[in-house]
Amino acid sequence: MAEEAPEKKRRVRFADHQSPSDWTPVGWRERRAEQQPDYPDAGALQRVERRLAGSAPLVEVADIIHLRASLSQVANAQGFILQGGDCAESFAEFNAEKVRTTYKLLLQMGALLRSATAGEVVHLARIAGQFAKPRSAGSETIGGVTLPSYRGDAVNGPAFTAASRTPDPRRLLDAHRQAQVTIELLHAYASASYADLAELHAETGLEGPLRPVSMFTSHEALLLNYEQALTRWDAPSESWWATTGHMLWIGDRTRQLDGAHVEFCRGVANPIGLKCGPSLKVDELLRLVERLDPENRAGRLVLIGRFGSAKVAEHLPELMRATRRAGRNLVWTIDPMHGNTRSAGARKTRLVSDILAEIAAFFAIARAEGVHPGGMHLEMTGGDVTECLGGSASLVEEDLERRYLTHCDPRLNRGQAIDVAAAVAGLLAPERRSDAA
Ligand code: PEP
Ligand code: CO
Repeated sequence: MAEEAPEKKRRVRFADHQSPSDWTPVGWRERRAEQQPDYPDAGALQRVERRLAGSAPLVEVADIIHLRASLSQVANAQGFILQGGDCAESFAEFNAEKVRTTYKLLLQMGALLRSATAGEVVHLARIAGQFAKPRSAGSETIGGVTLPSYRGDAVNGPAFTAASRTPDPRRLLDAHRQAQVTIELLHAYASASYADLAELHAETGLEGPLRPVSMFTSHEALLLNYEQALTRWDAPSESWWATTGHMLWIGDRTRQLDGAHVEFCRGVANPIGLKCGPSLKVDELLRLVERLDPENRAGRLVLIGRFGSAKVAEHLPELMRATRRAGRNLVWTIDPMHGNTRSAGARKTRLVSDILAEIAAFFAIARAEGVHPGGMHLEMTGGDVTECLGGSASLVEEDLERRYLTHCDPRLNRGQAIDVAAAVAGLLAPERRSDAA
């Protein structure tokens, strides 16, 4: 029998979300867009947008469809999402070794989690596009001088000078180039990952079959000029796709129902994450979920709670109950970082104990509400930084000065990230036992 044409095959496989017919990639421009840079030169921005629009997609539609299929398993209560990486990627600190250590850390954590979960672990790096940050204040004043806040390397520079802090659209091209190289490196490491896995299993004493790991990329869809320029129509799936990363998420500060970010994200067929913080009301969540996933398709939506260990028990149960009662086929995950930021002198930090407490509460609440605890979202690095406190190496406040390297939020270092993964493996273990029973 003749082989089906590849395009036909893909259409058959793609029974998921399709872009709504009333949507276009430019529609967000009619809405209010929070947290956008104030570019002084509109002409320069347009030139950059044209360059990006003419460049190749960063990720393949077939791989995004693969991620949707994996996430739909998690939505069906099988498996766990491990999402993690820097708060903000940096131009200055970029090198191949940094990508490799992040990759390897995700593999190592994933191996720990997989030994405990009944399903697969979905590896989702915060990488190759995580260059822009929402800020609570648009400007910063030091010694009587006021300048725009640092918004991530894709927008401006961290140094406190007028030249560095003025948003420059050409930085979008540098971010795009770094994302491209990062993805090439991830592909290279993926081909070598069997070797890495064998080594990691030996190091951690894990047993069980080695299986290939797909490493997907994700970032906050904050800079809509960038996202739009790299959005592409794909005829076989009859959909628009954001080709900057496999999964995009909407931040807690840009999730307004009628805002530009929700408008943009509702129309691309990628999996979409939605950060859910303490100010999110039940009604608002249900409306957002309906807007972003009107067809209620498993694999489309990932809700990312980020309440803080002190607030999670107050907010999460009613939100989970509401999505369950509404019969929504989505995944609930926890970001135990962003609600647990504390100050230590002039530094921002986070306690591993707060992070573990929020994760444990997430598992307990999910199980009490009859919801699958579907994943975690961490800010972490494979490097040996001293930005968060606690963990098995018992970092204390005095250690913060030693290697505090982040340009934005404090990250777990390698050892702390492994500590968290081991604790989560312990929380997942009852699942495996009940699956075997
Ligand atoms: C982030 O994930 O880096 C972030 C800014 O999170 P949130 O939108 O939840 O504050
Ligand atoms: Co952050």
